[in-house]
Order: sequence, then structure tokens, then C-alpha cells
Amino acid sequence: MAQQPVSLALSGYAADASGLIPNWLKLDSAEVHAPVLHLFPTRPSRILDIGAGIGSDAAWLASRGHSIIALEPTDALREAGLEHHSGPRIEWLNDRLPDLLSLMARRETFDLVKLTAVWAHLDPDQRRVAMPNIASQVGKSGRLIMSIREGWSPANRPVFEAAVDETIRMAEANGLALIFRTESGSIQPANIAHGVKWHWLAFERPA
Ligand SMILES: C[S@@+](CC[C@H](N)C(=O)[O-])C[C@H]1O[C@@H](n2cnc3c(N)ncnc32)[C@H](O)[C@@H]1O
Repeated sequence: MAQQPVSLALSGYAADASGLIPNWLKLDSAEVHAPVLHLFPTRPSRILDIGAGIGSDAAWLASRGHSIIALEPTDALREAGLEHHSGPRIEWLNDRLPDLLSLMARRETFDLVKLTAVWAHLDPDQRRVAMPNIASQVGKSGRLIMSIREGWSPANRPVFEAAVDETIRMAEANGLALIFRTESGSIQPANIAHGVKWHWLAFERPA
């Protein structure tokens, strides 16, 4: 099966990587995920981080005893991740939404699948392809936690309408039950200045 073409946002991340990396190295994953921290697994678990960036969250989760696949399509970000955030509990994978071709071929499922600040970069057609693929990675009693950006974004890394209710319907149509939703402000200065808002959704696959 042919992979869908690289999106404008992914070209933007490739172009902007050297400027983004130093800022992302300063981010505190626990602070970023504060609205949903109570939903993360407490016993050692298998986690898939889609759009893992430089792997700050993967390293944070590994330090809590989890093993992680850090899936990241942007070479410069994945390479920075390998440099700054590698370790025996983190496996880096070069793959991308919506098709997740390499990941799907592995036929694994996970206790937690997370997409932090990724979903808004997919247009409606990509989301329709992506959601069944993402949901298929969530094992029984496993969870999907995602944040969806709403508002301003740099022109070369566009975001699409958050469409939160539509996203919930898509996840539910793929066997996931909504267990939590909330909203938060941003913690990064440029996003705060532009009033960017985040929607947080958590789903669970019934046992
Ligand atoms: C705002 S960054 C968030 C990075 C990381 N999740 C974090 O919170 O630090 C968005 C990430 O999504 C990735 N991304 C964008 N489009 C993607 C796609 N189609 N498939 C997978 N990852 C994608 C980018 O390469 C980038 O690493």
C-alpha cells in the first residue's frame, strides 16, 4: 500500500527543527500533561507515543518504568531524540500518520497510546484514515490520550479545526469509550501570547 504524501506541517517541522529543539528540551512533560496525569498507567506498561518529537515524554515515561515506542517521522527531531533521549526502554520508529504502515505491520497493541499536540495537524480526510489505525493499537483495557490544539499556529505548521466532538465520535466508532475530557491553556510563551487552547481527550477500550 502506498503511503500518503508528506503534509505541509511535516515539511514545516523539518524546516524549523533546529529552532524548536532547544525550546522543547526545556519542557517539563509532567507539567505539559498535568490535565491528564491521573490517567497515565501506574504499573510498568507498554506505551506508543505517536509524533514523539524529540522524545522528552518518552524519556519521562521510561523513567517511570514504562517501555515506549517513540514514533516520529521528522528525521531531525528523531535524530535529536536519539541523541538526547535514548535508552533501553525507548525504541525509535520512523513512521507517520495517517497510514502508520511500519507500525501496523508489527501487529502489536499497547496499554497506552498517546498523541500530544499532533492530531490538529491532520486534515479531516487524514483523520478519517488515521483514527481506525490509531484505535487498533489500543489493547483491551488500554487507553488513548490525546491533546488537540485550537487557535493560532505558525503558517508552515498549519492546524485544522479542532473538531473535538467529531473526534470523539470517530474514536467511539472504533471501539473506544470516552472517559475524560477537559481544556487547558498553553505553557509555551508564543502559544500563550496567541491564546492557544488545548483540548484533552482520554478514551479506554473496554476489557
Ligand atoms: C507540536 S509537536 C509535538 C511533539 C511531542 N508530541 C511533544 O509534545 O513534545 C508535533 C509533532 O507531530 C509530528 N507530526 C506531525 N505530523 C505528523 C504525522 N502525520 N504523523 C506523525 N507525526 C506527525 C511532528 O513531526 C512533531 O514531532
